[in-house]
Amino acid sequence: MRQPQGSLQEAMQLKDLRALVAADLEAVDAEIRRQLGSDVALVNQVGEYIVGAGGKRIRPLLVVLAARAAGIRDSDHIPAAALIEFIHTATLLHDDVVDDSAKRRGRDTVNEAFGNPASVLVGDFLYSRAFQMMAALDSPALIRVMADATNTIAAGEVMQLMNSGDPDTTEIRYMEVIYRKTARLFEAGAQIAAIVARAPAPIEAALARYGKHLGIAFQLVDDALDYRGDTEELGKNVGDDLAEGKPTLPLIHALQRSAPADAAMIRSVISEGGTEDQARIRQVVESTGGLDYTARLAENEASRAIEILAGIPASAFRDGLAALARYAVSRSA
Ligand code: IPE
Ligand code: IPE
Ligand code: MG
Ligand code: MG
Repeated sequence: MRQPQGSLQEAMQLKDLRALVAADLEAVDAEIRRQLGSDVALVNQVGEYIVGAGGKRIRPLLVVLAARAAGIRDSDHIPAAALIEFIHTATLLHDDVVDDSAKRRGRDTVNEAFGNPASVLVGDFLYSRAFQMMAALDSPALIRVMADATNTIAAGEVMQLMNSGDPDTTEIRYMEVIYRKTARLFEAGAQIAAIVARAPAPIEAALARYGKHLGIAFQLVDDALDYRGDTEELGKNVGDDLAEGKPTLPLIHALQRSAPADAAMIRSVISEGGTEDQARIRQVVESTGGLDYTARLAENEASRAIEILAGIPASAFRDGLAALARYAVSRSA
């Protein structure tokens, strides 16, 4: 398999980070598998299909690093990390139906392989299982954070649906969507890590802010990779955003800076869809600096995330969180 230099370095970076909390991550994996079980065969089959495909497991990594950095003594961060991954996976099962996506984690999406109903319903199963896991943690503060976060994510996806096909979508509206649909879960994950660690309020607040900026950086990079990434490496199809008329930042930036004829073409692809102008639009996105601009904003978010870490006690785990922020912006998969 093709293994570009960049991705090799990244893999090592991520591998080192995972090694720092290897035992925790193994426990999270065991918890995920245990909680996946149901007496309904199709739930097990679809659950195994999507979870067995892996995924990068960035959010569980975030939760365990944050909990360790906050000085956790017991093991409540293990179910906390697993439930964040369940919510993430549930949103992907729903998102792939909404986006009509065909590839995820290097496989056919669940909607492609099992159909839309299975994807929606197993998504609901994972979502509600995550709430059972929260209830078992018996922390009203944690439940409050997660109830608010999941509601914000749902509203963010609806907000994005309203932007979809709208060439007048502004950078501000785009930023609001990516905060809600993606960064909010990173923010909540880091915050509940502090809650289960019984960290003092300023540390909880710092970790939440760190998670928020990390999540924004992560989604900005994801949206750039949809233009310049590699399908095989990413495990999902590049070009999906453009094909579905989703005005993400690279395209919004290009639209503002392109010549009238190119701008008209971009507006038409956003509102009508269509794949025939894709190659030309990619060129315009590149030449107007849409990808560099997006990467620059992501860099700024990662830098802010790292600065915020000055507010928590120094440790190898805090260094791990800083490395995670750097990974978020250097990744190519
Ligand atoms: C995909 O998230 C959805 C986004 C918020 C960009 P990931 O890139 O973390 O997906 P997996 O879990 O590794 O498949
Ligand atoms: C992922 O959003 C879904 C959520 C964050 C809820 P996207 O649609 O942008 O991500 P991909 O490209 O499908 O992974
Ligand atoms: Mg999608
Ligand atoms: Mg995307």
